[in-house]
Amino acid sequence: MVTALLILSLGGSVLLPALGPAGARGSRVIGGKAALPHSWPFIASIQMDGQHFCGGFLVWPKWVMTAAHCPIPRRNPSVRVVLGAHRLEQPEESQQVFGVEESIAHPLYDPRTVDNDIRLLRLNGSATLNKYVKRIRLPSPHIDLKPGTVCLVLGWGDISNYGERPEQLMETDTAIVKRSLCRTLWRGRVSANMLCGASRNATLRGVCAGDSGGPLVFKRKVYGIVSFSGERCGDRRYPDVYTKISNYIDWVHLIVLKHRHPEGQQKHNPGPGAAKGPGAGRLRGPAGGPRHRSGLEAPRRAGKGWDTRAPPPAPGALTVDGN
Ligand SMILES: *[C@@H]1O[C@H](CO)[C@@H](O)[C@H](O)[C@H]1NC(C)=O
Ligand SMILES: *[C@@H]1O[C@H](CO)[C@@H](O)[C@H](O)[C@H]1NC(C)=O
Repeated sequence: MVTALLILSLGGSVLLPALGPAGARGSRVIGGKAALPHSWPFIASIQMDGQHFCGGFLVWPKWVMTAAHCPIPRRNPSVRVVLGAHRLEQPEESQQVFGVEESIAHPLYDPRTVDNDIRLLRLNGSATLNKYVKRIRLPSPHIDLKPGTVCLVLGWGDISNYGERPEQLMETDTAIVKRSLCRTLWRGRVSANMLCGASRNATLRGVCAGDSGGPLVFKRKVYGIVSFSGERCGDRRYPDVYTKISNYIDWVHLIVLKHRHPEGQQKHNPGPGAAKGPGAGRLRGPAGGPRHRSGLEAPRRAGKGWDTRAPPPAPGALTVDGN
């Protein structure tokens, strides 16, 4: 029985009618635990009228990455991006709050198939990087995670089937599922632009409502964006599905470069209209050269931290498009 494709933003839509058993509704970073405060300093809470509705993560001091299916308008005073948070309901001194200057969904994002589910938010100011707020590094272009790799997912999404919200940031681990198996389980809905993760055993474990846009982390880099899950969250018969960020490195760099000089000719760039801009035709699928423009990266800081260069992954942990 095919379950509903549940989009994980709060207030997001269920794309297909539920065919599963009545009452089998999903939610939560499920089977997880509270994160140690500020141990994941790249995490962002995206809020509408003070309510958390999607996750995201800081990739450069002015840029937060999230899911395209999170309907985030630009220059809307109701929308806030909160960095450095742990307990959203409390006035934490570590928090930095920004508005959204530009909200740029991938031009080929398809709400029906949920393919290309990636969005960049340009903040209305630069985050101050400190022990509570750091950026996370993106993966090398087109790199894939090997099935069985254990990753971490984070979020302020629901923690029960009854819409219970956590008081603090939650985390859990998830194991990468081979894409071909995942595609079979999802009746063909999993594209080459997606990564799948599931609980390693019968324990319900994974992401759910409110976790959308959040990061799938492995060894100090972010490989995935929480995209969708089965109706019953944490159920490994319907693995959680993430946008495969490594397929979008060229697009990300293109967008960030375009907005580098906001006072210049790009000032009136319409954002999502980037689809019509030069290079848009080259954005389809995982095409594009593996150029890494390190010039875009924030200055590296000394010492340990998420904004320093991570050691190379353990041999064998990663494959390039292996399945
Ligand atoms: C950015 O937006 C936030 C939230 O709307 C606001 O509090 C802050 O003053 C803005 N900062 C700048 C530099 O405009
Ligand atoms: C499932 O695996 C987790 C570790 O990933 C472990 O803590 C848990 O006890 C296991 N549950 C079962 C039912 O084996």
